[in-house]
Amino acid sequence: MELKIAVLPGDGIGPEISKEGVRILETVAERFHHTFKFRYGDVGAAAIDKWGDPFPEETLKLCLESDAVLFSAVGDPRYDNDPSAKVRPEQGLLKMRKSLELFANIRPISTYKRLLDRSPLKEEVIENADFICIRELTGGMYFGEKYEGEEKAYDTNIYSREEIERILRVGYDYAMRRSKHLTVVDKANVLASSRLWRKVAKEMEGDYPEVKTDYMFVDNASMRIIQDPRFFDVMVTENTFGDILTDEASVITGSMGLLPSASIGGKTPLFEPVHGSWPEAAGKNIANPIAQILSAAMLLEHFNLTQEGELVRRGVEDSIKNNICTPDIARKGCESFPTGEVGRYIAEYIKKN
Ligand code: IPM
Ligand code: MN
Repeated sequence: MELKIAVLPGDGIGPEISKEGVRILETVAERFHHTFKFRYGDVGAAAIDKWGDPFPEETLKLCLESDAVLFSAVGDPRYDNDPSAKVRPEQGLLKMRKSLELFANIRPISTYKRLLDRSPLKEEVIENADFICIRELTGGMYFGEKYEGEEKAYDTNIYSREEIERILRVGYDYAMRRSKHLTVVDKANVLASSRLWRKVAKEMEGDYPEVKTDYMFVDNASMRIIQDPRFFDVMVTENTFGDILTDEASVITGSMGLLPSASIGGKTPLFEPVHGSWPEAAGKNIANPIAQILSAAMLLEHFNLTQEGELVRRGVEDSIKNNICTPDIARKGCESFPTGEVGRYIAEYIKKN
């Protein structure tokens, strides 16, 4: 297969983990005789520095000309500590999601046996937890009308029936392929937007008689995720709730550095780790590349390169099993490995297997 892949390393640890994602894709291409062509673009603070825009026209053009985007992270303390900044790195990611019409963000959460003790939660609670959070990605408060004054500020949590329907459809499709259990997470006891979500979901239930749909308020869901994560199989929720719940869910896996995601919808699909740019670690070669590498696996699977994706996943599992791990998940009291060494180990596994 021939694929044109846009690589957007971004900020902080982005460039370090990006390298490992590309290394893995190059290794897969060689091993399975595919042709992957990589072209690089700027996003986030890196793009503000160079172009004065966190998602410049050049980057949009590159994304639109590509079959897939491999994105890493954006964010920079220069902007975090300056509430008056008019342009911010995060706007680049939001603009990219919106202009590529990536309304569905698929975030799988599962555990590794060897890492159960890296989670602060009890092993018997998290063992075999395995669910997918489907986060709506181009609506809600992130994109609704905003006002930012000195005395007053607001963000509007707006959702149309059409936006709700299409993301619920994605949720039901995943539920049909898994154990036919869908949890719609909302705040319908308080928010009008959530009540429309619930109304639309109730109307759609009839189209999927095999799926058991249940409804959960987001406050309750946030408790359930760490109290009884095995309850969930497929969860679907709005943009803001999905952002928050998936950081929380990463605690089950043992490290934020393990969670990949796929953002899909209208135009070029984008594959991005759930974690951010971790500026304090930038340049230190300690960031876990696994979220990025598993995002690359999701990219392969998106193009039905199932065997290839599977091999990458096995490489990741093997590295964890053999403790070729960055400090966040290295076995307690054992040596840890730099970002590049973990990537190299997984690449070697792919070559040999
Ligand atoms: C994420 C991130 C982004 C978000 C930020 C960087 C804008 O936290 O992908 O979860 O809030 O969507
Ligand atoms: Mn987030």
